[in-house]
Amino acid sequence: GGVVVGVDIGGTKVLAGVVNDDGMVRRTALRTTPGRRVVASQVEDALVAAVLDAAAGRPLAGVGVAAAGFVDSAGERVMFAPHLPWQGEPLRDQLKERLGCPVGLDNDANCAALAEAHHGAARGAVSAIVITMGTGIGGAVLIGGRVIRGANGMAGEFGHMQVVPDGQACECGRRGCWEQYSSGNALVRNARALMVDQPSVLVEMSGGAPEHVTGPMVTSAAEQGDLVARQAFASVGGWLGVGTANLVAALDPEVVVIGGGVSAAGDRLLDPARAALRRTLVGAEHRVVPPLVAAELGPQAGMIGAALLVSGAQVRR
Ligand code: BGC
Ligand code: NA
Ligand code: ZN
Repeated sequence: GGVVVGVDIGGTKVLAGVVNDDGMVRRTALRTTPGRRVVASQVEDALVAAVLDAAAGRPLAGVGVAAAGFVDSAGERVMFAPHLPWQGEPLRDQLKERLGCPVGLDNDANCAALAEAHHGAARGAVSAIVITMGTGIGGAVLIGGRVIRGANGMAGEFGHMQVVPDGQACECGRRGCWEQYSSGNALVRNARALMVDQPSVLVEMSGGAPEHVTGPMVTSAAEQGDLVARQAFASVGGWLGVGTANLVAALDPEVVVIGGGVSAAGDRLLDPARAALRRTLVGAEHRVVPPLVAAELGPQAGMIGAALLVSGAQVRR
């Protein structure tokens, strides 16, 4: 008996949920991720709290963790995480100890890709690229429904490919990373810069303080037709297409799936990305350009994929 809980921990929130064998989500719990300057154990406290809250007193059969960081190939440690205070953190064993059940661990975007391969937009695809746009950019390569892990377990860190030499400083410590131009953080940064000298509903929404603008505010402003918000999306979407073109040039996948919180904006993000992909991709007029589609499991993909780590389900193809 007992329930399987998947938990997705990103730079801004922790989402846990009871997930059935068929990928259906039963009960979820949400926490805010403690800021970057806290100690590792405080982030673990939030994780444990979200898991217990989702389980609501039922015994735990297993817990899968989707973490926004570089997970080692054994699935034991988070070696490094640009948006979280973990370095070489033995997260799997610590949670095993605290929760008293088997624990699985992988990168958040890898988990999202696994879920999309089982139950979503990458189902049946022989090859696929999955890109998650949240606080940063996460990525995964799927071949035959399996996630390619790389020699260190660190394949798919697309967010930190350099797209602008000497560009914007990144939380990873380097410069010009793709996620600095195409992510939730980039969306907000663009909007803040634009609202300084253009009229925008974001001024009112943020109480006149650009530093209070959030990603969801920009999404809702864009829905209301706000030009600043729409420009912010056009920029982030354009950069999404440029980076995707490079990945497609390298891997020639059947489909590209876009997930993560920012993808809730749908075609407002994807249309400029599709246009930039066609414009940028080498040989675009001599090949089938892969469709760029929204993740079907939306913001729950990471959590559902995390649960798959411990439920041991095989991909149906
Ligand atoms: C991290 C990735 C993570 C992604 C999305 C990036 O900054 O390097 O490990 O998958 O953010 O959360
Ligand atoms: Na990844
Ligand atoms: Zn970086």
